[in-house]
Amino acid sequence: MSPRSATAVAHPNVALVKYWGKRDAARNLPAVGSISVTLARLSTVTSVRFDPALRGDELSIGGLPDAQALERVSKVLDRVRASAGFELRASVESRSDFPIGAGLASSASAFAALALAATKAAGLERSRRDLSVLARQGSGSAARSLFGGFVEWHRGERADGIDSFAEQLLPEEAWPLAVLVAVTSGAPKSVGSSDGMEHTRLTSPYWPAWVEGAPAALTAMRDAIGARDLVRVGELAEHSCLAMHAVAMAARPGLVYWNAATVAVMHAVRELRQKGVPAYFSIDAGPQVKVLAAPSDAGRVRDVLRAVPGVERVIDSRPGPGAQLVDGEMESGS
Ligand code: PMV
Repeated sequence: MSPRSATAVAHPNVALVKYWGKRDAARNLPAVGSISVTLARLSTVTSVRFDPALRGDELSIGGLPDAQALERVSKVLDRVRASAGFELRASVESRSDFPIGAGLASSASAFAALALAATKAAGLERSRRDLSVLARQGSGSAARSLFGGFVEWHRGERADGIDSFAEQLLPEEAWPLAVLVAVTSGAPKSVGSSDGMEHTRLTSPYWPAWVEGAPAALTAMRDAIGARDLVRVGELAEHSCLAMHAVAMAARPGLVYWNAATVAVMHAVRELRQKGVPAYFSIDAGPQVKVLAAPSDAGRVRDVLRAVPGVERVIDSRPGPGAQLVDGEMESGS
């Protein structure tokens, strides 16, 4: 059999209602649902080549072999192989144009692109919903990056997890919004999100409150997005972000993903609000800060963020598209 390959591009997303914690770690099922916005401009391109000449799966990230991430990648590939009914090993190459492993959701874009590229390379046709279930096995937040715009990933109730899929709430063009990413450090985070989540579930006294609060947070966010109400979306997103960090900080020992510049940006955003500019922050498991604002205020917000000591750069983004194939053709020969 000849090698078969495909390449896909996907974009990271920022959660407006956060996913933090698993109800089943082996199946990567979330303890809470989540809602995000997929980001334009930042992207990960992932190529998959199933090749009879390979004895094991291979992975390179940004041109360097990565044995650590290979296990999760192989888990996704195993499911694809099982569906396709073959045993071929794969070579996977992934490149992101933004800092990876630093709380900028590189695993979300990488596993969304992987799910799409691997199924295509294997000759399978899958719905976006099914692809979101597949991508979830590698990284939970990747389920959301299959879709563009505003996206909900359902917690689901079933033990097999087939009802834990993502779906689009609002397409990217339906609500122009500025999302500015203040990069405060390119260094990899100290505790990965999966480890951080399990540690939080097992040791944080606030864990039950975090889980209990999720359904109301999701309902409120769905309504606010439907109404395209920046103030409500922003207030709810900031609350979900702070609640997620609070439950993680209360773990033993506590998890602190922020640096001094992260906190300085949070204050700068709140000062902007006091001056009448609706801007709201969100932070994932790392020190970068994403700021939501109206497109007409983006210039002013960008200038304020750039002036915060410790901010290395500010990336302009907006709601972006879901994962897409770059070349879906089956390769023959070589
Ligand atoms: O997808 P993971 O396992 O890398 O977890 C992502 C967790 C957060 O980014 C902190 C929150 C979220 O909902 O994306």
